[in-house]
Amino acid sequence: MLELSGESLKKALRGGEITVSIIGLGHVGLPLACAWATAGARVIGVDRNESVVSMVNRGLNPVRDEPGLDEIVEDLVLANRLKATRDLPTAVRDSNVVILTIPTGVKWNEPGKPLDLMILREVLEDVANSMGRGKLVVIESTVPPGTTLNIAKPLLEEVSGLRVEEDFGLAYSPERIMSGHAYEDIVENYPKIVSSVGSKSLRAIKALYEVIARKGVIAVSSPIVAEFEKIVEGIYRDVNIALANELAKMAQALRVDFEEVRAAANSQPYCHLHKPGTGVGGYCIPIYPYFAMHVAMLEGLDLPLTRLARIINESMPEYIASLTLKAISTLGLKPGEARVSILGLAFRGDVGDTRLTPTYDLIRHLEAYDINDIAIHDPYAGGGSAKYPLYRSLEDALRERSIIVVATDHSIYKNIEPSKLIEMTGVEKVAIVDGRDIVDFKKLPEKNVVYVGVGRPWIIKL
Ligand SMILES: NC(=O)c1ccc[n+]([C@@H]2O[C@H](COP(=O)([O-])OP(=O)(O)OC[C@H]3O[C@@H](n4cnc5c(N)ncnc54)[C@H](O)[C@@H]3O)[C@@H](O)[C@H]2O)c1
Repeated sequence: MLELSGESLKKALRGGEITVSIIGLGHVGLPLACAWATAGARVIGVDRNESVVSMVNRGLNPVRDEPGLDEIVEDLVLANRLKATRDLPTAVRDSNVVILTIPTGVKWNEPGKPLDLMILREVLEDVANSMGRGKLVVIESTVPPGTTLNIAKPLLEEVSGLRVEEDFGLAYSPERIMSGHAYEDIVENYPKIVSSVGSKSLRAIKALYEVIARKGVIAVSSPIVAEFEKIVEGIYRDVNIALANELAKMAQALRVDFEEVRAAANSQPYCHLHKPGTGVGGYCIPIYPYFAMHVAMLEGLDLPLTRLARIINESMPEYIASLTLKAISTLGLKPGEARVSILGLAFRGDVGDTRLTPTYDLIRHLEAYDINDIAIHDPYAGGGSAKYPLYRSLEDALRERSIIVVATDHSIYKNIEPSKLIEMTGVEKVAIVDGRDIVDFKKLPEKNVVYVGVGRPWIIKL
């Protein structure tokens, strides 16, 4: 396919003549599989998880945070455009394009958080072992800058015995999705960034994504630019959130509402302050700064601002725990007597994803203060902490608990009146620690309540 013109490739994709393997059918891979299949490709999704494969083959969507995919997956499977398998070698052999959307990351619990690209290396090796001439391999997982040229290219060439650009194509194209609306993000919302190791691969990847992404394609000059671009998006947000967290603490000290300050500041086009909060979770934003710091270190460079942003954001759960401790003592309780309800286990509002959620760190810091009577509420997240109950019902999570800590910005916590929250506790005096500044503090009852937000002053009405 490398020899085909851009127009011929587009025609082949639209005409159902291109088969694509997508390896890793998770938050990124499944919506991407749907986008390719909708554009006309025959898609083989490859995943090592048997239940993912079996669900997809039954027309069911295994990605809990993407309810919008339910119907699309069902339709595509029924139309024979999408199927799933654990058999990577056969899928690769049967495909023209092989896309990698498997996890990449760092060893989060090890000192220095070293890179963890083991799955990527294994999958590249498996692909290389099954790869014949003429295929286009596309990496779409987020990777440290330099990975495509320095790891993927030599590994694929050495294991397959084939030459890139002569025998097969190699491209890198980062995913720019946000859980909850991933399919729309790919198909409708953003231009697709594409890059490759040579002109033939670039022509192919560019033509194919011009069919899939309605906002078009931005072709950058090399994979390292695209790899770096992706982590820069994450670092920008991490640093911005760290700044918001720092300024939110200052607003609290000045006894003003940071949300009011932020809204006023952001009315000017050069200010884009993000929101402060309990912490930054998920497998993207907290990890990409470490990708950058590792690569920078190899270049003999320190990234103090990126590093400091991580320190600030990783300290937020501890900060919220310290506000909780103070709220407990303001109610006249000892930490060991406090009955706490944490609202939100997911790392972000209105999704159920709990990967690297700050709520777990918050619990750890509460425990360090001897606060051990904890219930968790989340309408979307599963799992939970082995130690503490996780409730779907707000009433059950709040019953007879006088300390409410909002950890996630689920809309339900924003839309409910604080007096209703307090009523559900059935307790006379209640403290609310708003780790996301979403409770409507202007509607607090006139007495028996203590309130503090991450960027909001203390309100004590006892
Ligand atoms: N989730 C996001 O919002 C997002 C956004 C942009 C980029 N990314 C990046 O995309 C990549 C994938 O992330 P994700 O969120 O989709 O991960 P995920 O955990 O949701 O999905 C990964 C899938 O890969 C499968 N898998 C793991 N090892 C495998 C193997 N050896 N062979 C076959 N399948 C395997 C898993 O079973 C899982 O279904 C990561 O690099 C991530 O940083 C994620």
